[in-house]
Amino acid sequence: MFFHDQNFHIRPLDTRKDMLVVADLIEICFGSQLDPDGAAYLEHVRKAALDQRLVRWSYAAGEMISYPLNGYVCEKDGQVVGNLSIIPFYWKREWYYLIANVAVHPDFRQQGIAHSMTAKALEHLYRLPIRAVWLHVREDNLPARHLYDTFQFRERYMRDTWISSEMTANLDRPVPGVLIEPPRREDWPSQLKWFSTLYPSDVVWNLDFDANQHRPGILAGLLHLFRDEKPLQWNVRIDGKFSGAGILKKSYTYADQVFLALPPDDGNEKVITTLLPFIQKNYSPNRKLMVNFPSRTAEKAFRQSGCDLVSRLIWMEIRMN
Ligand SMILES: CC(C)(COP(=O)(O)OP(=O)(O)OC[C@H]1O[C@@H](n2cnc3c(N)ncnc32)[C@H](O)[C@@H]1OP(=O)(O)O)[C@@H](O)C(=O)NCCC(=O)NCCS
Repeated sequence: MFFHDQNFHIRPLDTRKDMLVVADLIEICFGSQLDPDGAAYLEHVRKAALDQRLVRWSYAAGEMISYPLNGYVCEKDGQVVGNLSIIPFYWKREWYYLIANVAVHPDFRQQGIAHSMTAKALEHLYRLPIRAVWLHVREDNLPARHLYDTFQFRERYMRDTWISSEMTANLDRPVPGVLIEPPRREDWPSQLKWFSTLYPSDVVWNLDFDANQHRPGILAGLLHLFRDEKPLQWNVRIDGKFSGAGILKKSYTYADQVFLALPPDDGNEKVITTLLPFIQKNYSPNRKLMVNFPSRTAEKAFRQSGCDLVSRLIWMEIRMN
């Protein structure tokens, strides 16, 4: 699809002048879908727009920074009506690229703007030495899914985000036969296997989670020491059998993250319903907990832990040759 109106003009985002208008556009387009992190992100973008030092620095750093300041905007008659961000992530010596914030002002939709911005971004990304480009799209966002399908983005994962509620801490109580204890070395091989299944390598860069750093032993001890943080991980035994584990990662965003290691079959419900309330009450009492998990998995257990489903996202990838 091409522009129906030749007065549209796509150009690279200019961090020195576009940030405020782009923040407004994202707010208009994503409005009700914005979670507190999204709102905080916009706040951050607006602050950055007003802080010329940060803008100058990011401008000079160009693309090799993990800061969402790259991408394209679409202008009509000097007014920005579309935006697409390109967000680079550096993870384990590799760059990953995420297309995000694809937004077209409601008055200018279905005129080929998103299509043209995506084409422009991919044209640029194809020139970089990268293996793949990713994006996340809500399962119920059919127009956007259609758009990405036309570019041959392929669905790789579907991930749910669960957020704890006020109820979660109140659900913490002893359950007969269930023991929550510090990690044991002998449990680690199963734990790592379960983590790797629930958080595959193509997912963890985006969540900034490296299970290996939590292997019980000297390395984990040193890392915690350097970072001046307590190891926040627990194993769960049900009737004496190792049945699951959880790691709490404190964050600066509105929710602390919990990563769960669970065996593939059932039996994990109790791990979730005991561990999440336990962590909430004892280690994150004034904060929300957030769990990113494969979609349609253990839904009942998350709900029984007082958690709400806040998003279901399809992770799509396009391979670069
Ligand atoms: C999704 C969005 C970016 C599409 O922008 P747009 O400029 O209207 O899209 P385009 O005109 O380039 O259309 C691209 C394709 O999607 C189709 N499409 C776009 N909106 C559609 C709609 N509401 N219903 C059906 N099809 C639609 C177009 O027909 C076109 O398909 P084609 O190439 O087969 O003809 C825009 O609706 C938007 O900003 N939505 C809110 C924010 C959002 O959800 N962003 C995506 C986040 S992943």
